[in-house]
Amino acid sequence: MAFDIDMIKAVYSQIGEKIDAARKVVNKPLTLSEKILYSHLHADQNLESFERAKSYVNFAPDRVAMQDATAQMALLQFMQAGKKQAAVPSTVHCDHLILAKEGAKEDLKSSLTASGEVFNFLESVSNKYGIGFWKPGAGIIHQVVLENYAFPGGMMIGTDSHTVNAGGLGMVAIGVGGADAVDVMAGMPWELKMPKMIGVKLTGKLNGWTAPKDVILKVAGILTVKGGTGAIVEYFGEGAKSMSCTGKGTICNMGAEIGATTSTFGYDESMERYLKATGRADVAEAANAVKEHLTGDDEVYANPEKYFDEVIEIDLSTLEPHINGPFTPDRATPVSKMREEAEKNGWPTKVEWGLIGSCTNSSYEDLTRAVSIAKQAIDKKITAKSDFGINPGSEQIRFTVDRDGILQVFEDLGARIFTNACGPCIGQWDRAGADKKEKNTIIHSFNRNFSKRADGNPNTHAFVTSPELVAALAISGDLGFNPLTDTLTNADGEQVKLDPPSGFELPEKGFDVEDNGYQAPAEDGSNVEVKVAPDSKRLQLLTPFEPWDGKNITGMKLLIKAKGKCTTDHISMAGPWLRYRGHLDNIADNTLTGAVNYFNDATDSVKNQLTGEYGAVPATQRAYKDAGIPTIVVGDHNYGEGSSREHAAMQPRHLGVKVILVKSFARIHETNLKKQGMLGLTFANEADYDKIQEDDTFDFLDLDQFAPDKPLTLSVKHADGSEDTIKVNHTYNDQQIAWYKAGSALNLIKEKEKA
Ligand code: F3S
Repeated sequence: MAFDIDMIKAVYSQIGEKIDAARKVVNKPLTLSEKILYSHLHADQNLESFERAKSYVNFAPDRVAMQDATAQMALLQFMQAGKKQAAVPSTVHCDHLILAKEGAKEDLKSSLTASGEVFNFLESVSNKYGIGFWKPGAGIIHQVVLENYAFPGGMMIGTDSHTVNAGGLGMVAIGVGGADAVDVMAGMPWELKMPKMIGVKLTGKLNGWTAPKDVILKVAGILTVKGGTGAIVEYFGEGAKSMSCTGKGTICNMGAEIGATTSTFGYDESMERYLKATGRADVAEAANAVKEHLTGDDEVYANPEKYFDEVIEIDLSTLEPHINGPFTPDRATPVSKMREEAEKNGWPTKVEWGLIGSCTNSSYEDLTRAVSIAKQAIDKKITAKSDFGINPGSEQIRFTVDRDGILQVFEDLGARIFTNACGPCIGQWDRAGADKKEKNTIIHSFNRNFSKRADGNPNTHAFVTSPELVAALAISGDLGFNPLTDTLTNADGEQVKLDPPSGFELPEKGFDVEDNGYQAPAEDGSNVEVKVAPDSKRLQLLTPFEPWDGKNITGMKLLIKAKGKCTTDHISMAGPWLRYRGHLDNIADNTLTGAVNYFNDATDSVKNQLTGEYGAVPATQRAYKDAGIPTIVVGDHNYGEGSSREHAAMQPRHLGVKVILVKSFARIHETNLKKQGMLGLTFANEADYDKIQEDDTFDFLDLDQFAPDKPLTLSVKHADGSEDTIKVNHTYNDQQIAWYKAGSALNLIKEKEKA
């Protein structure tokens, strides 16, 4: 299942027919993104002309990728579905839980000790259910996917926001929450609102110091961190064809930083070269046979204004290298303006660290271009003023660049080679002195630079740029250094200039690797035992949620009436709680601790109606549960906005909350509640929110007649003996009511699987 040419051929065998049918229904030429979406409709979904930004559509992605932090709950849930194998090819990648400190060898060893039980669990569950497993040290999910699995015209989801990286190889690849991955692995349809389409026309050709990274840094400056929300960004034009496949990957990767659903490029010769270089000549051959379907229609690219919702044009020939930051990836500054900007804003100009790598920029081309600068520094007797850290994207890349002497040059410059993993990109950087919280500047080739992201220090000013510019600025030790015009003083006191970088798109001697870190699953996993220690603090096997008994729920106490914003972070905080993502009972101790109690304006302080005392939300809820008393949570507008984290729905369910009643829901959270067998309801009359008091008790009057399009009625009994009867709406369809009855969507799948 690892290198699934048969699956790809099956996709290509129908692609032309499906696209022709879609073109007829839509009645206009199609963008590449539309071709991929329309050719991946789920069998349950009727073909119609879907309205962008309006229609909800059921898709059937070709594959699923998961990283170690998010895979835990996804796979624990998948185990509940009663399936023998994942319904589509799927992989797990151990990359987030690996520290960067001393260097690859030592760091990998200590991470295996610290998170060994999580890795062992992921390995055993992958083995059992036919899921490919990439061991710690094998590489970063998106680089490994690009090297092994991405294919033009394919559709993929992944439990990480930078899944979008695979757009560099012509996919529609979308970052999702664990619950979505479970749906697809269980063979259920995957729902997405039909995205808007943003077209980016690239003319000219990159030259000198400018790299593909500068295209997305420029686009981020134009569109800002929200500008791509709900849209697919599709790149086209001669400039797009002139760039390497991995360069396209970099551009798509950082589409996440403008909030885009995903980004993609049409199939071209750079992709063909990359597929062949990474051992997939068969995929290239299959793609060549259907290549007219793997790019947008000619008319679309000839008159983009007619077919895209927004069009941006960038001339690569005149594009200047950019440095974005600090603290936000859309603060774009051309390299020539950086000194002025830094001085104006009081940013420290001494560069302490230069970090190269991450899923964004760790290709052979990136590393060879960066090393060409490092080599010049050595040859021209310039000593690097900053520390260097390198995170290769995969073992295949690491092995190849080691073979080609590239790592040695970095090491000669004093660089530390970290594990092929996320490390400093996700706060897993044990940086000496970071706890002193000093104001300082670092420069890296990653994608995100929010406060504290790299080393936990809120005063670290992180700037994002291309690997070659990271190398130049780290060597100079000066954020204001412009290698296009400025000189450096060498060991002999001479003024020397760095020449523009040069590199290789692909290794001349081909890629090489001894052990790529992949572990294929068992052919028949039925006897494989999933490893979870019963006393584990980080992992806990799930027990199925109880089915509904068909009766009206009565005697529900108010747990909390949340005031104002209540995002998934307020419901299930991140930060230190991340380590419990695979342990529902432990992570449930953060449930709703960030929500503001309407009655005292405090967080994590609610009245326990049984004792009259105030206590933490989770503890109070556990007390109700122990007493066998059901509860209800009341909330404001857009309850559950933020991430698609399924924990925010699972935790209240696990603790015994029966109903979430709000003015309005964020749609993904509402769906997550339904999947977990919870009741997510809205006030028919928003003003009824004001009627809810601290000591209220709720009874359903007609839940026993739960049916689509039929509002429900709640009797709300107040402490003074008065009572209000309120109408509440719901959006459950027949299928979702069946989930509710079964206790959860997964329970229902399991029932069907047994039948
Ligand atoms: Fe890892 Fe950073 Fe990419 S956390 S997946 S290297 S964005």
